[in-house]
Amino acid sequence: MTIGFIGTGHITKAVVEGLCGDGDPPAPILLSPRNRTVAADLAGRFESVSVATDNQAVLDGAETVVLAVRPQVAPEILEPLHFRADHLVVSLIALRPQAELGPLIAPATRVSRAVPLPSAARRLGPVVYYPADEKVEALLARFGTPIAAESESAFHRLWTLTSLVAPYYALMAEIMAWTEKGGVAPETARAYLDSMFHTLAVMARDGEASYADLAASAQTKGGINEQVMAILGERDAFAPWREGVEAVFRRMERGMAEAG
Ligand SMILES: NC(=O)c1ccc[n+]([C@@H]2O[C@H](COP(=O)([O-])OP(=O)(O)OC[C@H]3O[C@@H](n4cnc5c(N)ncnc54)[C@H](OP(=O)(O)O)[C@@H]3O)[C@@H](O)[C@H]2O)c1
Repeated sequence: MTIGFIGTGHITKAVVEGLCGDGDPPAPILLSPRNRTVAADLAGRFESVSVATDNQAVLDGAETVVLAVRPQVAPEILEPLHFRADHLVVSLIALRPQAELGPLIAPATRVSRAVPLPSAARRLGPVVYYPADEKVEALLARFGTPIAAESESAFHRLWTLTSLVAPYYALMAEIMAWTEKGGVAPETARAYLDSMFHTLAVMARDGEASYADLAASAQTKGGINEQVMAILGERDAFAPWREGVEAVFRRMERGMAEAG
């Protein structure tokens, strides 16, 4: 089963590296020629990857078609293309809901939207997708952990969470700077932070407790966690985080059509 990609940019590069990188005999992969440099690089590195002459040749040569172009240009790129009814379409395009994709890919009807992270290159990270589809799930499992959303709105809410990557790293940078300022060697601080936050994530993932219970049980009376939580609580420090994700979610729900 050949997997075709329309749009060969950052996320296609990560997904193709994930698909090809682990010695699995991967399905043949057919890339659209843009971006030329990225497409040539991938085709040069992986035997199963080739570059089609144009976007229509990708559709003609593939059974599964992954859409990975920017949302602003998606209609003008997709409208002239001839999809087949038997195409399985996986759209990675932001801000273009199912209802808008339908007419662009007709007569194909089997379409799921998905959100890989750049860590797909290392086969790591969640890949939220909607609607659930066995074949799509099997494809996504080859470069991440597929998580089916129960509705398109739930899909937008989970996609919204990917906007917390920069805030998360920025928080780490802030704490790191504070630690170093107190005289801790950067490599020591970094080793500690990486190990501590990795451990917290693993403990939450492998346990039964809710996040709220984990936060409560870490706050012993009169202890240092309780002290920091009290200061954060006084300043309503989680409010900007809620406002940030709410603003992104509203933008996702409006989509391109309404955003103009
Ligand atoms: N980056 C992420 O982490 C991520 C994650 C999930 C979803 N997405 C979504 O995936 C889509 C692509 O994102 P990206 O970060 O990969 O963007 P990108 O790096 O800009 O890639 C888009 C690619 O589309 C190509 N393109 C432009 N016009 C084309 C045409 N007529 N035919 C075929 N290809 C054409 C561009 O080629 P040129 O370079 O030659 O212009 C570029 O290589 C977006 O909708 C984004 O929202 C991205």
